[in-house]
Amino acid sequence: MILEAIQYTATALVTPNEFRPFIRSSLGLWGRAGRCKKAWAAHEQNCHAFIRETIEPMKQRRTAVVLGSGLLRDVPIGELSKAFDTVVLVDLVHLASVRTWLKLKRFDNVRLISRDLSGLSEALSGELPEPLSFLRQVPYLDLVVSANIVSQIGVGCRRVLDRSDHAQPDVILSQLVRAHLNGLSALPCKTALLTDVRYEVTDLQGKVIENDDLLCGVPVPLAKREWDWPVAPSGELGRDRQAVHRVIAV
Ligand SMILES: C[S@@+](CC[C@H](N)C(=O)[O-])C[C@H]1O[C@@H](n2cnc3c(N)ncnc32)[C@H](O)[C@@H]1O
Repeated sequence: MILEAIQYTATALVTPNEFRPFIRSSLGLWGRAGRCKKAWAAHEQNCHAFIRETIEPMKQRRTAVVLGSGLLRDVPIGELSKAFDTVVLVDLVHLASVRTWLKLKRFDNVRLISRDLSGLSEALSGELPEPLSFLRQVPYLDLVVSANIVSQIGVGCRRVLDRSDHAQPDVILSQLVRAHLNGLSALPCKTALLTDVRYEVTDLQGKVIENDDLLCGVPVPLAKREWDWPVAPSGELGRDRQAVHRVIAV
């Protein structure tokens, strides 16, 4: 509790006003990641291995951008920092603990940007969302990693749309997911997409209690690798149930 309060205050001090409301959700992720460390380890290793595999054949390694860098758990930041001239981490919030760790490790070529990558405000004003268009301005861009952010854009924006009683939240949400996936595949550089695509909540006997798509109805891209991520092992959602997400790497 005290650690969380320190983390909140230290993060708020270095986070622009408009992004401060998202600190709580980053702290939630931080707490969950700590509690579920063991259950998430294989997923994180799979993500690292896929990013490693993506950069291995790359001859030119100037700038790499990570979208949804969060706590840097599923991103091999040490290897990226070593392999590229510059690494840019983009997220709504970069927790103080992440900032301090980067400084202690002397990853001096790593830059942090707070940015809303959803495209929600464009979509709500009737424009075609182009949430990744800012990447066109990044010089010497050789790699973009979308690091388990796509489904979270859907989750976060659904909350906003539900609060505002929007008439067609599902239409907007699928537009945002499509904009991220299309924006990524249109980039003139190497890309790696990591995302959970659906989830299943089961009881301890394996009976499915709930399941749903996490890409808001957008067809799932053809995956190079796939695995299960026990996002909420037994105890996290309740003692009698667990949630497993299916993750793809493209
Ligand atoms: C499941 S976490 C990804 C974990 C992260 N890749 C890691 O290695 O720890 C999803 C991340 O997406 C970020 N996120 C969610 N919606 C976002 C948005 N609209 N714009 C930017 N980042 C967003 C969250 O803040 C969170 O850090």
